[in-house]
Amino acid sequence: MKSSIERTVNRLLDRLDEELAVGTADFCALVSDELPVITIGEWLQLPSADYPLLRSLTHDQVFTQELFPTRSQLALSDRATGQLREYFTTLVRERRRNPGTDPVSSWLAVWDDLECDRAAADEAVFHLVLFMVLAALETTAHVLSGAVRLLLEHPRQRDWLRTRPEHIPGAIDEVLRYDAPIHMISRVAPEDTVLAGVTIRENEMVQLMVGAAHHDPRQYADPELFDIRRRSPHLSFGGGIHFCLGNALARMEAECLLTALLQRLPGLRLAGAPVWASRVAFRRLITLPVARA
Ligand code: HEM
Repeated sequence: MKSSIERTVNRLLDRLDEELAVGTADFCALVSDELPVITIGEWLQLPSADYPLLRSLTHDQVFTQELFPTRSQLALSDRATGQLREYFTTLVRERRRNPGTDPVSSWLAVWDDLECDRAAADEAVFHLVLFMVLAALETTAHVLSGAVRLLLEHPRQRDWLRTRPEHIPGAIDEVLRYDAPIHMISRVAPEDTVLAGVTIRENEMVQLMVGAAHHDPRQYADPELFDIRRRSPHLSFGGGIHFCLGNALARMEAECLLTALLQRLPGLRLAGAPVWASRVAFRRLITLPVARA
C-alpha cells in the first residue's frame, strides 16, 4: 500500500501548501484526519463520498470506550453505532451479491469455507470490517497530528531529523510513547487474582493506563523529556495475543507523511494553540493551526 499512501500524502500536502500560501491552516482537517480514512477507504474500496460520514461517526462512536462517558456522549455513541451497523451490513450484503477483489469479499469467501451458515458468516465479516475502521481511524489520525505537533514544538529535533530520515521510525516510536493515541486498554479478570498487590475479583474490569505507564520514571529516564533518539519500547499497540494488527500500516502512514513533510515544508511552524477533544481513552487533536515560517 506504500505507493498509494505516498500519492495521497503528496496530494494532501499540495492542499496544505495552497492554504499556507494565503495564511494559517488546520493540519488536522487538511492532513491528519484525512490520510487514515483515505487509506482504509481505498483498501476496503469504499466510495470516497462516504469518507466524511465515516470519520464523523467514528469520532462519536468511540465515546463508548471512554473512562467516564456522560449520558449525552453515550447517546451520541449509540446513534453512531446504529448508523455504522446500517452502513456496514449494507456493504457486506452488496459484496455478497457482487463479490470483487476487495478484502470484504475475500473475508466472505474465507468464512464461507469455515461456516455453512451464511448469516453467521455475514455477521462475522460485518464485525470485522466495523472493528477495522474503528481501530484504524482515530488512532492513526492521532499519531500523525501528534508527531507533527511534537516536532514543531521541538524545532531542533525536527531539523536534526530532516537531514537524517533514517531516524524517522525511531521518532515515531517516541511520539507513540510520549503521547499514546490510546491511553487505556481494558481487560476483564477471568478469575480472582492479585496484580501488583491489588486484589481483582473474577469478572471485574481493569483499565490499564498506558499513557501513565509511558511516563513512569521507574521505566523511562526523564519521562517528560521528548527525545526522538530514545528508542525505548512502549505499549501503544498493546501486547500479547491482541497486539495491534494494523501497527505496520499506522507506522507506514506516519513514516510517509513525516518524510514528505520534512522535505516539502521545512519551515512549518505552529500558528496557535492546539485544541484537544475532552477525552481520556482515545486521544484526539481537533485542530492544529500551522503556518509558514
Ligand atoms: C497509531 C495507530 C494505532 C494504535 C495506537 C493502535 C492501538 C491498538 C491497541 C492498543 C490494540 C490492542 C487492544 C487490546 O489489547 O485490547 C490494538 C488492536 C488492534 N488494532 Fe490497532 N492501533 C492503531 C492502528 C490500527 C490500524 C491502522 C488498524 C487496521 C488497519 C488496526 C487494527 C487493529 C486490530 C484488528 C486490533 C485487534 C487485534 C486482536 O485483538 O487480535 N489498528 N490496536
